[in-house]
Amino acid sequence: MTGLRDLWVLDPAVAFLNHGSFGACPQPVLDHQTELRERMERDPVRFFSRDYDELLGRAIEESASFIGADPAGYAFVPNATHGVNALLRGAPIEPGDEILVTDHGYEACTLAAEEIAAERGASVRTARLALPVTGPDEVVESILAAVTPATRVAVVDHVTSATALVLPIEDIIVGLAARGVATIVDGAHAPGMVPLDLASLGCAAYAGNWHKWVCSPKGSAFVWVAPQWRDRARPLVVSHGAGHPKEGQTPLRARFDWTGTADPTGYLTVPFAVETIGKMLPGGWPEIMERNRDLALTMRRRVESASGLQASGPESMVGSMAAFSIGPPAPDPFGRAKPLQARFADEHRVVVGVSAVRASQRLQIRVSAHLHTEAATIEPLLEALAEFGEIRTG
Ligand SMILES: Cc1ncc(COP(=O)(O)O)c(C=O)c1O
Repeated sequence: MTGLRDLWVLDPAVAFLNHGSFGACPQPVLDHQTELRERMERDPVRFFSRDYDELLGRAIEESASFIGADPAGYAFVPNATHGVNALLRGAPIEPGDEILVTDHGYEACTLAAEEIAAERGASVRTARLALPVTGPDEVVESILAAVTPATRVAVVDHVTSATALVLPIEDIIVGLAARGVATIVDGAHAPGMVPLDLASLGCAAYAGNWHKWVCSPKGSAFVWVAPQWRDRARPLVVSHGAGHPKEGQTPLRARFDWTGTADPTGYLTVPFAVETIGKMLPGGWPEIMERNRDLALTMRRRVESASGLQASGPESMVGSMAAFSIGPPAPDPFGRAKPLQARFADEHRVVVGVSAVRASQRLQIRVSAHLHTEAATIEPLLEALAEFGEIRTG
């Protein structure tokens, strides 16, 4: 692995174990984006009025193929939060309906579901998952047990955020579909962590980030919408394109491809990031995903044996991250997360994810493995946990 870490501009004085929150770009990806920015700024009118459609169309085709999606149902959006909001707004939710979420779901997306439900005279029901989770079957059962005759749409994470678990998304989608419930998958962490073939997944819609595990520039994400929802899917912003589809452009693409002036170089860099990261190990993306999973498992075992912290679920549900509950339940877990994260960084120069599970009121710490992470990166965390005994046990 030597040498790969040097491709990232990460501060060498810090043990960086939080790729999961905001990703991290290697230098060649940043350089590619800079070249595109320079081209844009040399002649902005040519770039946007003449070159943009072709550049975007190519970026859409190439990035959609990495996730097994047809380009006609694919659109770039700035981030997964934006994507889930747009997909929920386009979902067929009527007065009296229920939106199903889980208590391991990402807080912003749960809040979006609550807001949209309130606007439509609908409501949100929360499936309670165990913590720690005992296995994939238990997750499927808990979600399906929360379905009622009013459930119309479910928002389910492919990989949970605070608890860092790869959920059995295929089984969840099938079980929900059998009960007449359409699934919006929040796949913020999935591209680049787990193999994806959206065309065969069976969900109604999917939102995912490029800027996390594919290491593309910040602000690059996508939505993909299954054919049955394409007519209704809308971006959060209405712009020129919606009223003036170009020749050969599908209505969905006409609505999403131009939502006003913004820097599109993050989107245009996605295919380069897929290719560049994919070449960093001889076995390409399959080897990268396997290597990151192995390292996440190694780090997880070390944290468990050194600190006694309990992981959030079984090893079979680990992707490139591992999470542990820390401290006793207490009020305002989200408010308590940032000060603890700052303590790890300031006192031990280690950056970990610190978040919370709303229902349990417990904090979660999370470690991430990507190609810039090495087995030794975990050492400062183990030292910190040994010292922070009072936080561990409360
Ligand atoms: C499950 C899940 N959904 C949504 C998000 C939000 O991603 P973004 O900040 O890129 O919108 C995250 C971020 O970690 C996440 O884990």
